[in-house]
Amino acid sequence: MFRISASIYYFTGTGNSLAVARRLAAGLAAPPPAPMVHFMDGETVGTKEGTVALVYPVHHWGPPDLVLRFAKKLKVPQEAYVFAVATYGGHSGRAFQDLDKALKVNAHGLTAGYHVKTVQNYVPVFPMPREGVQRDLREGADAKVDRIIVAVKERGSGEKEHWRWRPGVRTYYLSSKRKLHSKDGLFSVTDDCDGCGTCARVCPVGNIELLEDRPSWMHRCEQCFACLHWCPRVAIEWGGSTVNMGRYHHPEVTLEDMVEQAGRPSSNASSG
Ligand SMILES: Cc1cc2nc3c(=O)[nH]c(=O)nc-3n(C[C@H](O)[C@H](O)[C@H](O)COP(=O)(O)O)c2cc1C
Ligand code: SF4
Ligand code: SF4
Repeated sequence: MFRISASIYYFTGTGNSLAVARRLAAGLAAPPPAPMVHFMDGETVGTKEGTVALVYPVHHWGPPDLVLRFAKKLKVPQEAYVFAVATYGGHSGRAFQDLDKALKVNAHGLTAGYHVKTVQNYVPVFPMPREGVQRDLREGADAKVDRIIVAVKERGSGEKEHWRWRPGVRTYYLSSKRKLHSKDGLFSVTDDCDGCGTCARVCPVGNIELLEDRPSWMHRCEQCFACLHWCPRVAIEWGGSTVNMGRYHHPEVTLEDMVEQAGRPSSNASSG
């Protein structure tokens, strides 16, 4: 079997990026992907591997802030092939530019970037599609990952970004990054909450505390929407627009996987 010595790092809210990272790892015969979240406390993250992948969701037409902070810590060998795989639901924006810049803090920049269109989880604007549509999107995503595996083995130069800097787009992009971590003030919880604590367990950055059996958000939010999508009682809303918009997670990704990403003991978690 063609084997690549690779480090694959991922960040995920609803499992799409983890499913992609796992498929990549299997196709490259690489070790299991590692959560970026586990490396956020150290000053640097070092890897000696010749192939390094960062797999993440597009958030507001760019990489999530946590992914950029992770990339700034990353040290790789001079000759390493460093590639990004950005999962997205509608428009991937500038999925790679800022990542390239962040990587250059401690390493050379991005060698290649690839997009994977899959199920859109941004329910403040887009209702979840029907199950059949979701299945088709995931199958398309799997097929795309298989093509990326071939490209990576051939040291491909990647894809162009789907991005044009227009005035309205620029304003949206910049405003979405402003006060990102404290926008969790928009979360609210309904009377359906039974205090189970799942939201706190899946939060990758420990941003949720239970106070009198109700979640309280502490303004370190990364906007991954894991809490909202994984709540078994559908008791979490964002602003006024997520009611009846559906909830989602990738069917191959379990609650235990999310708890593992968050770095907390998974003994009380049940399969999602
Ligand atoms: C806060 C937020 C912002 C998003 N912004 C975009 C976007 O700009 N363009 C897009 O195509 N999808 C966007 N999405 C959808 C995700 O990129 C997509 O569903 C992704 O596959 C989710 O990956 P995950 O399951 O690994 O978290 C956004 C999702 C969230 C939660
Ligand atoms: S996951 Fe949902 S039901 Fe459980 S504590 Fe959080 S908001 Fe309440
Ligand atoms: S509070 Fe919710 S949206 Fe924010 S980082 Fe935690 S799980 Fe993600």
